[in-house]
Amino acid sequence: MKALDLAKSLPETGRVRPSWRQQLDHKLDQWMTSPGFYRWAISNPLTRWVTRRRAAQLFEVMAGFVHSQVLLACVRLNLFELLREQPMKLEQLAQHCRMHAAAMQRLLQSAVALRLLEVRGNQGYGLGPLGAPVAADPGLRLMIEHNAVLFDDMRDPLALLRDEMQPHMQAYWPYMNGDNPQGWEAEKVARYSELMSASQRFVIEELLASYDFSAHRQVLDIGGGKGGWVLALAQQQPSLKLHLMDLPPVAALAAERMQKAGVAERVTVHGGSFISHALPAGADLVTLVRVAHDHPDAVVKALLVKIFQMLPSGGRLLLAEPMAQPPGEPPVADAYFHFYLLAMGSGRLRSPQELRALMLEAGFDSVEPVRNPMPMHTRLLLGQKN
Ligand SMILES: C[S@@+](CC[C@H](N)C(=O)[O-])C[C@H]1O[C@@H](n2cnc3c(N)ncnc32)[C@H](O)[C@@H]1O
Repeated sequence: MKALDLAKSLPETGRVRPSWRQQLDHKLDQWMTSPGFYRWAISNPLTRWVTRRRAAQLFEVMAGFVHSQVLLACVRLNLFELLREQPMKLEQLAQHCRMHAAAMQRLLQSAVALRLLEVRGNQGYGLGPLGAPVAADPGLRLMIEHNAVLFDDMRDPLALLRDEMQPHMQAYWPYMNGDNPQGWEAEKVARYSELMSASQRFVIEELLASYDFSAHRQVLDIGGGKGGWVLALAQQQPSLKLHLMDLPPVAALAAERMQKAGVAERVTVHGGSFISHALPAGADLVTLVRVAHDHPDAVVKALLVKIFQMLPSGGRLLLAEPMAQPPGEPPVADAYFHFYLLAMGSGRLRSPQELRALMLEAGFDSVEPVRNPMPMHTRLLLGQKN
């Protein structure tokens, strides 16, 4: 298509002459999708290398759903825990998993190809480099099992995007229906709180490694779940006083846990909703861990304003959650969280810039990123009230 045709085909606002960059992009798109391109690309060593890499990446994207189901099958069969103890042979595994040897071999070979397992000579099969973390972490296994809910909701991605279906994920997270205690059934609350608690280990390690909490007197963790984070903080900082706020049925689980851990005197648990109740006062640091992304902008804005107003002068907000990767960094988990939060119902994956803008709008005088050695699970922003 000539530059002139391109200008005509652009939407109303694009009637102006396309920039040289737009023209170049357009030419490249045309060239790379032309019938002769592939033949040319594989004909010389340099472009062949790039083409091979791209083809492998695209295949991985296309086959990703099979890969995650192989992982799920291994988790459901407890293969990682089993092989953590000792390598096993095909026949033993087939018998243990109640499967024909030929089917078992298919699964094992697939898991080896994905580096979840590896062949250990005549000992049979053992853990692979990507299977070892799964064997080590029950939270990861719970999350892999939980992803089956999302897999189901994404069966028809267009129906999900067009809001033409009722995702199962919404029923999984009962607080998605707003501040309605009737939805907070004990069983559902216990199930999601357990998932959060089990999957919080990496986040806790990252928070402790990234920020010096010793300068604070009192910390309030909002949406703190069963309290894994406040418990770890209480153990690391013996002079710190802590508060946790969550919906009443979750707060009850947290209170029981604090009692059992013997820290109930230092950790006060508050049952309430940050949407309709006041925040407990007294903290000079608020932590918001994997909470804001669940909620729409209006709810997040109102919560940030409440936090800002409650904090004393010099107080801080440490916000930790998965964020859209800034340009220039590989967007490892972006697609996953975009769709997870879509299925969940009301939240969205925000970029650090968007969250920073929301925090500044709420009144914070400065908002700076805090370096996290493993920004895949959460990125951190620190808001300061002067
Ligand atoms: C995704 S979980 C994260 C839990 C924990 N911070 C963690 O990282 O494991 C979100 C938490 O926010 C709580 N939550 C949701 N809406 C809330 C509200 N309106 N008031 C208080 N807590 C709320 C949920 O009960 C849940 O425990």
